[in-house]
Amino acid sequence: MEIVNVELGDRAYPIYVGAGCLEDLGPRLAQTGGEKRMAVVTNSTVASLYLEPVTRTLTGAGFDPAVVQIPDGEEHKNLAWLAFVYDRLIDAGVDRGGSVVALGGGVVGDLAGFAAATYLRGIDLVQVPTTLLAQIDSSIGGKTGVNHPAGKNLLGAFKQPRFVLADVECLRTLPRREYVAGLAEVVKTGAILDAELFALLEAELPDILRQERDLLVRVVRRCCQLKALVVAEDETEGGYRAILNFGHTLGHAIESLTDYTTFLHGEAVAIGMVAAARVSQQLGFCDATTVRRLSTLVDRCGLPTEVPSDLEREALALAMRTDKKALGGSIKFVCLEGIGRTRFERLGCDEIVRYI
Ligand code: NAD
Ligand code: GLY
Repeated sequence: MEIVNVELGDRAYPIYVGAGCLEDLGPRLAQTGGEKRMAVVTNSTVASLYLEPVTRTLTGAGFDPAVVQIPDGEEHKNLAWLAFVYDRLIDAGVDRGGSVVALGGGVVGDLAGFAAATYLRGIDLVQVPTTLLAQIDSSIGGKTGVNHPAGKNLLGAFKQPRFVLADVECLRTLPRREYVAGLAEVVKTGAILDAELFALLEAELPDILRQERDLLVRVVRRCCQLKALVVAEDETEGGYRAILNFGHTLGHAIESLTDYTTFLHGEAVAIGMVAAARVSQQLGFCDATTVRRLSTLVDRCGLPTEVPSDLEREALALAMRTDKKALGGSIKFVCLEGIGRTRFERLGCDEIVRYI
């Protein structure tokens, strides 16, 4: 098992990455000294696959886990289901020494994480991510929250977990489309932070798509390491952490204009990354080779590269302007200077769509 540390002083924590390491959850949790009574928050799909081994390892280590199960789907990442989780935690008698284990993808991780951040003013949280996106991104760095009818992730808190345990074997049951969508964030990580990782993806993509075990552990571990460095540098996104938004400005606009029904998040981000590279090239920040390498790799993953032709440029600009990260019609846009190198540029939303 590989261990990556997120260096955050008294909130520092390890990320365990391995193949078949789910059974270590109980012993690892026991090391944190948490109380017997605790809760596993998960959804119906993940429960049917992994609840049994997870409760086995927890009970084996002396815990008495209550199970809180929410329905599958982003539409349940809201205040009503958060209240449901609080009710179950109270019913189960989880107290301040107890903990919440978030078992699932980013939806479960964000909702259960926010519950842990706020229940009894905060109890311990352990992230057990089961999607590729959650293993390399959402489980790390402490962003938790739920959606509001007015927008995604409008309500939330920073809550760093006690540890993250990512078992890449869990990715075998992931629908292919979800796995590939998660790969978009892997490509993003290489594109913005690590030319060597990017080159590895270019060279080994067929094996990564096949989920060759050792390679997958290596790739997930490297992505976790890079995200951990970003989070350690800027925990609450005062500045640098916004580098992770590469491709997301346009990606979010596309998701919102298509009512979150046409594209998975990673697919929209894939289009957004290629567009952001093109914007960077037009502004003279990177060369054509950089754009070509990125768009070729995205395409080889089986991800889309082009903005759907029926999406009007004006509508995209408007959607970007209403993004919660926009300020007075402009955005701190993440541009590529080359593979593995970025710069921030404040750009008007109209300007961005003109360059796409
Ligand atoms: P998800 O949690 O909806 O999971 C995708 C699908 O895969 C779901 O149907 C889920 O039930 C299923 N699933 C999960 N693990 C499985 C497994 N091992 N085998 C089979 N099926 C499995 O989606 P996601 O892409 O993991 O996360 C998206 C969410 O993450 C969004 O709500 C987004 O806002 C959030 N997010 C948060 C952060 C953060 O920093 N907190 C970062 C990025 C995204
Ligand atoms: N996923 C973006 C962040 O964690 O900041």
